[in-house]
Amino acid sequence: MSHADGRIALRVEDLRVHFHTERGPVRAVEGVGFELYAGERLGLVGESGSGKTTTAMALMRLIRTPGRIESGRVQLGDLELLSLSDEQMRQARFARISLIPQGVMNSLNPVMRVGAQIIDTIQAHQEGLTREQLQERVHELLGFVELDPSTAQMYPHELSGGMKQRVGMAISVALRPQVIIADEPTSALDVVVQKRVMDTLFRVQKDLDAAVILVGHDMGLMAQCVDRLGVMYAGRLVEIGPIQQLLEEPQHPYTRLLVSSLPSLERKGVFRGIPGITPSLLDPPPGCPFHPRCPEAIDGCSTQVPELLTVVAGSEKDDTRLQQLAACHLHTGVDA
Ligand SMILES: Nc1ncnc2c1ncn2[C@@H]1O[C@H](COP(=O)(O)OP(=O)(O)O)[C@@H](O)[C@H]1O
Ligand SMILES: [Mg+2]
Repeated sequence: MSHADGRIALRVEDLRVHFHTERGPVRAVEGVGFELYAGERLGLVGESGSGKTTTAMALMRLIRTPGRIESGRVQLGDLELLSLSDEQMRQARFARISLIPQGVMNSLNPVMRVGAQIIDTIQAHQEGLTREQLQERVHELLGFVELDPSTAQMYPHELSGGMKQRVGMAISVALRPQVIIADEPTSALDVVVQKRVMDTLFRVQKDLDAAVILVGHDMGLMAQCVDRLGVMYAGRLVEIGPIQQLLEEPQHPYTRLLVSSLPSLERKGVFRGIPGITPSLLDPPPGCPFHPRCPEAIDGCSTQVPELLTVVAGSEKDDTRLQQLAACHLHTGVDA
């Protein structure tokens, strides 16, 4: 596990992202807020369509039409990302905050050698480097993600899935960002390769002294490698807290179902799904979005949206890293 020192690397507040489709707005991210501490690994887990990728893309300001960031604040050190100009944001990307996109292995340019793709990223941010300096950076970066320097001469189709994922990682960390977002970095890989790529990611994180947001749907993988975990459901963050505490005493009924879907906490297990259907984000249910599937729903769950509030304070009351928050009326009650 990595060690967070209590400094906040990234603070996200009330992030809302809607896709304006012909059928109406798809509320993909609805009021998401969390803190990412320096040096920590924060997981974001949730079933497909829960808004994980949209959240990641919004933090990078990479949402494209018909999507739009409707509200929110994203504070990264002295920068409020959502109020930067496009050019300022372009400079912050890669250098301050970087994304290893979902499916990065398929987004490499097929007709360009790996080395040239890495050089493109470096040159977009740093001018005046000589050919030799660039070559040296490429070799350094390839070594950093545990690839042979000869990989620079290869085309993407000559690489295995794990190697492509590493190239994606090299591009993302080329400018030594302090925040790395990895969106399903190993979902397409087999278990053995998955583990090696993860190990490399976390070694790179340590060397850069960066914080990581690990996005995924595999609760077992999360259990093994994050410090804190956020659980998303229907575009909302429904629970967040220290991983061990959250696995032992999940406070949201949805998290309880996710945790009980794990074969055992020690072993890996892919989330197999829970009864009921995912709500439409075009026409989300009123109240708590989980209430139609919730085995523990009470009066009021179908009418009032629960707020994400501290439920377990942790042993040191003022250390917010230890707090477990849940958005559930079972904890807060409903207004009469
Ligand atoms: N370009 C788009 N146009 C319309 N809806 C979109 C678009 N991209 C994503 N969505 C919708 O936003 C929701 C969240 O998607 P996404 O963030 O990709 O979820 P996840 O990564 O958790 O699987 C889904 O309902 C998805 O259909
Ligand atoms: Mg996704």
